[in-house]
Amino acid sequence: MAQQWSPESWRGKPGVQMPAYEDQDKLTAVEAELASFPPLVFAGEARKLKRKLAKVAAGKGFLLQGGDCAESFAEHSADNIRDTFRLFLQMSVVLTYAASSPVVKVGRIAGQFAKPRSSDMETVDNVELPSYRGDIINDIEFNSNSRKPDPERQLLAYRQSAATLNLIRAFAQGGYANLEHVHRWTLGFLADTPQYEKYQELADHITETMDFMRACGINADTVPQLRQTDFFTSHEALLLGYEQALTRVDSTSGDWYATSGHMVWIGDRTRQPDHAHVEFCRGIQNPLGMKCGPSIDPDEMLRLIDTLSPDNEPGRITLIARFGNDKVEQYLPALIRAVEREGKSVVWSCDPMHGNTVKASSGYKTRPFDRVLDEVKRFMAVHQAEGTHPGGIHVEMTGANVTECIGGAREVSEEDLSDRYHTHCDPRLNASQSLELAFLVAEELKKARRDDTPDWQVDAAE
Ligand code: PEP
Ligand code: CO
Repeated sequence: MAQQWSPESWRGKPGVQMPAYEDQDKLTAVEAELASFPPLVFAGEARKLKRKLAKVAAGKGFLLQGGDCAESFAEHSADNIRDTFRLFLQMSVVLTYAASSPVVKVGRIAGQFAKPRSSDMETVDNVELPSYRGDIINDIEFNSNSRKPDPERQLLAYRQSAATLNLIRAFAQGGYANLEHVHRWTLGFLADTPQYEKYQELADHITETMDFMRACGINADTVPQLRQTDFFTSHEALLLGYEQALTRVDSTSGDWYATSGHMVWIGDRTRQPDHAHVEFCRGIQNPLGMKCGPSIDPDEMLRLIDTLSPDNEPGRITLIARFGNDKVEQYLPALIRAVEREGKSVVWSCDPMHGNTVKASSGYKTRPFDRVLDEVKRFMAVHQAEGTHPGGIHVEMTGANVTECIGGAREVSEEDLSDRYHTHCDPRLNASQSLELAFLVAEELKKARRDDTPDWQVDAAE
């Protein structure tokens, strides 16, 4: 029998990756203040996302989840939000066309501030200080004052999330998402990329389809779906005091929802079955992600799915595989087979970022773009072989023209990294690399669809 859950029951469990605040009174006061603030998202929206993810789990859709590794106070600007949102739209047009099914858009945005770290302390020039844990907890600058966890930062993160969400809602519903504009931006991008030839065919098909639709009277003026979109927010549910303060009872269903974002996920370092993060997440009704790295074993994964989704509700669980391009084939098949054997309903998503981080000789953390592409390809091939649906991708990306991951059609070299390396945590794909990834996934999805075509359709076509 599962034990009684409450928004604070996680406090009775062991937890890792939590900051040690010096001033507990200040922390308590901040949490009380947050608890009095309005919700950032609504339960009905989280339920809508769950319904959409349920379709993805059933093989009828694709999840595109992405954004900063860590949002920062310094990079908060309308331009950054707009550029990332536009990139999302461009990627999803390409993917929607290729998959011939809806693309569910979920940003790592408006709440993605807290970071797990591989080490509690960081040493620079023989000085040892607490690691940076994201702007919601401490400051990235390397001095003892900045690195002290400060509860007041939670209030700033909340307000930044509200402002970001406000702009996203306006973009999503106010005409910025017009399909025709989005496709025109993509054509503009392709015109000056060395990969032009490779992706032109797919882009031309989309252009023709839109011309055809326009000729039939289907355009942004006549069909609202062509000028607006659903866009959801997500982040890692790491800082549990903050999450608890924003967890509220939904008056319609009487259920508890995290209102800090539509979807939250459990990181690879905090998914111990009897620990605080799993305890908190099991009681909220939002869609949940769970990162699966090489250390997870199939039985433990099944146990976690049972804890987090006791009713096996479709759309509730997204498993985010993050193995590294050279390890996918070793680990993923056993997990897929366990899920299939037990009849669990999950979305399988591929995070090709966190297993492919390397240190450049200059000291920058980077990710070789070809490994990122390779992990996605292998992930999709494994699913093809197992007869299961590669349901989505989860990427760290930005619409800004940064130089953080090496490679791509507009080659970023190791020497370029120092030019525009702005991330507060892990290296992100820039706009050009992200769109290139979308085209690659599109090609793979199209190939998979062709291979899945029933024999009679192939016969008829011959
Ligand atoms: C992340 O998504 O930024 C992250 C820390 O991932 P993981 O938990 O998979 O390491
Ligand atoms: Co990251």
